[in-house]
Amino acid sequence: MIIAANFKTNMTRAQTAEYYTKVSGFITEKGISSEAMIFPPATAFNTFEGVLTVGAQNAFAVENGAYTGEIGLEQLDEFGIKTILVGHSERRHILGESQELIIEKFNYYKEKGFTIVYCIGEPIEVREEGNEALMNYLDDQFEGIDLEYEKLIIAYEPVWAIGTGVTPSEDDVELIHTALRQKTSRPLLYGGSVKTANAKELLALNNVDGALIGSGALNAEDFCTILSIAENITNNREGK
Ligand code: 13P
Repeated sequence: MIIAANFKTNMTRAQTAEYYTKVSGFITEKGISSEAMIFPPATAFNTFEGVLTVGAQNAFAVENGAYTGEIGLEQLDEFGIKTILVGHSERRHILGESQELIIEKFNYYKEKGFTIVYCIGEPIEVREEGNEALMNYLDDQFEGIDLEYEKLIIAYEPVWAIGTGVTPSEDDVELIHTALRQKTSRPLLYGGSVKTANAKELLALNNVDGALIGSGALNAEDFCTILSIAENITNNREGK
């Protein structure tokens, strides 16, 4: 499985370093087989020798240049970062990123060989229109995206489930992930109010290959608990 933590605009450099040490130590000690990915704010980028994958929450589709407030490939390369989130709903809806810009970023970082965690998810008004409208909305978010890119990971995060403590029903998550599975063979993460209390139920669903977690992963101990839950589910699936 892939268990990813998106820190968003939380955590300082010092807090992030402490977090890495705790989580990396836990993974080594427990022999966790899941991949742990952490997306800290760019101010916390640092070199780190451990068993974690560190990724960027965002970067512009450029090596460097005059793009005030943005970072580019050069700033990621400095820290050996080869993983990036693209299309997160907060960037789509709060920062106003268009599908056109998202495609540009996707293609640029694909060409550079990055692992791309590509986020999709519908707002509540689309959810309320029913399953067909929902799948059409997600299809539109796949426009221009190579769904068989070998380093692609999809994160399905319903906008209304992010940071609200509300999740879709287990049946709905399974239904949507099973529909997504028809479109891509790449790993499918669920995101939106995943926490220690519901991780077991959500991660055990068919076609859920991991989770992308915001607030529920800000505490290193909670993230480690979710890694353990994922490990148990993986072992059960493999009949260990
Ligand atoms: P929460 O886990 O806080 O709902 O956030 C989910 C998310 O947006 C992860 O990218």
